[in-house]
Amino acid sequence: MQQLLLIIVLVLLGACGKKEGGAAATPSTTPSADADSDVKELLVYSGRKEVYAQPLFDLFEKKTGIKIVVKAGKTSGLANVLLTEKDNSPADVFFAQDSSNLGALSAAGVIEALPAEITNLVDSRFRSAKGDWVGTSGRARVLVYNKDMVKVEDLPKTMQDLADPKWKGKLGWAPKNGSFQSHITAMLQVDGLEKTTAWLKAMKANGIADFPKNTPIVKAVAEGKVAAGLVNHYYLYKVRKDMEEANKAENHFFADGDIGMFVNISGVAVVKASKKKEAAKKFVAFILSKEAQEIFKTENFEYPLAAGVVAYEKLKPLSKINPVKCDLGDLDKIEATQKALEAAGCL
Ligand SMILES: [Fe+2]
Repeated sequence: MQQLLLIIVLVLLGACGKKEGGAAATPSTTPSADADSDVKELLVYSGRKEVYAQPLFDLFEKKTGIKIVVKAGKTSGLANVLLTEKDNSPADVFFAQDSSNLGALSAAGVIEALPAEITNLVDSRFRSAKGDWVGTSGRARVLVYNKDMVKVEDLPKTMQDLADPKWKGKLGWAPKNGSFQSHITAMLQVDGLEKTTAWLKAMKANGIADFPKNTPIVKAVAEGKVAAGLVNHYYLYKVRKDMEEANKAENHFFADGDIGMFVNISGVAVVKASKKKEAAKKFVAFILSKEAQEIFKTENFEYPLAAGVVAYEKLKPLSKINPVKCDLGDLDKIEATQKALEAAGCL
């Protein structure tokens, strides 16, 4: 009788996995809960862009023979799926584009504590204090500026400095962009609504120009259309690959501890409901391995966060950066951020 029940449950779980995971996702349903040595595939809920994630998944498969089945989507959407599925989730791994939802997953108890030998690979600034998720790569917010238009001594120390009239009509930002909104979410967490709103309004009053996303800002800076703009650090190096003028642009980091000195991270966690936890932990360890960390560095110029891999040569090393202290796992209050941006006339 018990066996029959188990079979029924497994069949149901399998069907559920297929439905949720789309045509490609067919999680194997090994009868034994811990037959990890037989694991043929892992189901990864991935919020990362395929172009960056796939080389990692391919390498993992090559090294271990374990196929990565991907359920791709927006990180926040996938987090909600996991929160709904809870104990019945077919997922083994959660791979987040940004860490903002990982705190909610941790609080809901749907992700698994990782062994210290894994978490210790990552600087404590970039992982969960509870030990149930780790950062995998980092993206610093910077002010990209045109070296012909801005003197080094005039560069701002703080985000507040950008509200100075000397920057009037010279700046660009991308208020609808996800990275920008994450940054403002951190600002709301650190500085509160009143101060954040005052800054947003001051920036508008200073005539900051709107762009749809990061790349056009870097290009406009390179072409001298604006003197400087708020972006993620890696866009400059990407644009430089096929735009000569982008060598006129440079990244400026705000002062340590200022809200401008914000590093957002991608992160990874093992799903508590997984029946293949050992293999899932192996995947997390792989993502933090030297080979995988090198991929983050070369594919997207992101900051590697583990295995002693140093960042792209032209970047200020992470060890020399002291980002603003905020809870990276708790930056999912995007609705409040968008409300604040709207109220300040930025959206
Ligand atoms: Fe990006």
